[in-house]
Amino acid sequence: MDINWFPGHMAKAQRMIVKDIHLVDVIVELLDARIPASSSNPMISDMIQSKPKVIALNKSDMAETEITQKWLKFYRQQGQLVVAFDAISGRGIKDLVNQIEVAARPKIQAAQATGIRNRPIRVMILGIPNVGKSSLINRLKGSATVRTADKPGVTRGKQWIKIGKNLELLDTPGVLWPKLDSAEVAFKLAVTGAINDDVYDVEKVVLTLLTLLRDNYHERLTVRYGLESPIPEDSEELLKKIALKRGCLRAGGIIDSEKTIRIVLSDFRLGKLGRFSLDIPEQDSLV
Ligand code: G4P
Repeated sequence: MDINWFPGHMAKAQRMIVKDIHLVDVIVELLDARIPASSSNPMISDMIQSKPKVIALNKSDMAETEITQKWLKFYRQQGQLVVAFDAISGRGIKDLVNQIEVAARPKIQAAQATGIRNRPIRVMILGIPNVGKSSLINRLKGSATVRTADKPGVTRGKQWIKIGKNLELLDTPGVLWPKLDSAEVAFKLAVTGAINDDVYDVEKVVLTLLTLLRDNYHERLTVRYGLESPIPEDSEELLKKIALKRGCLRAGGIIDSEKTIRIVLSDFRLGKLGRFSLDIPEQDSLV
């Protein structure tokens, strides 16, 4: 979903989320495992207040495994329920359902204590654009039963997907807006595809990415593009070298920077440059 987040959009998104939050018992906060800090939105705590929450690190197939482990430890030390998974292959989805059940347990027990049995626990997914909300919902849908709520007090037309023994997931996720409060966070959101390519300077983002790769992932860069060491210190020069290696030339032998920029960005996003974790818990940034 491509959205330019103006204040009006944010207010509307917040209103919609707050409206749906009344219908659910547990929240799944979906984050990108490559950038858990940058893909979070601190407004979530105001919106969900004391509702139980599971932090779900999606796209873990694209993040560095050891750093994802550090994130899991980091969140657990804060007393949070957290799980890493990947909505495409489905790896870790069972853990996610288990963690949702753990989060729901107090509510189920409280209901049972008052003699209410078989009341489904309702769950909603929240996350910024492109973090994998639809992919997760589709995967959970799988063969699950989908039904339209028809109970009093529940808005008609809402679809609920039955997951686990006692859980029902709201079919429409809450779309949080990305926080663009620093150049560094904006870079991480842009390079991972969380913000629409039309609203930032793609060239600047790719030049920053090349600096990051040169400084921290030298070998991946030289192997992927067949570059000889030493590679240029200057990112624009580095981009030119990649262009020459890839034959990105216009008529007259002029370098096609635009095409080269697209190639590097797409290689990064498709995992062709390897796995990346751009946020590291309690550590200064890489960029
Ligand atoms: P959203 O609803 O939160 O906006 O996100 P959505 O599910 O549409 O996913 C955004 C992109 O991220 C999609 O790729 C999707 O395939 C990809 N994706 C989601 N979860 C994972 C994951 O766990 N691992 C990996 N590697 N990719 C994931 P796309 O290229 O934009 O669309 P598509 O062509 O794949 O459909």
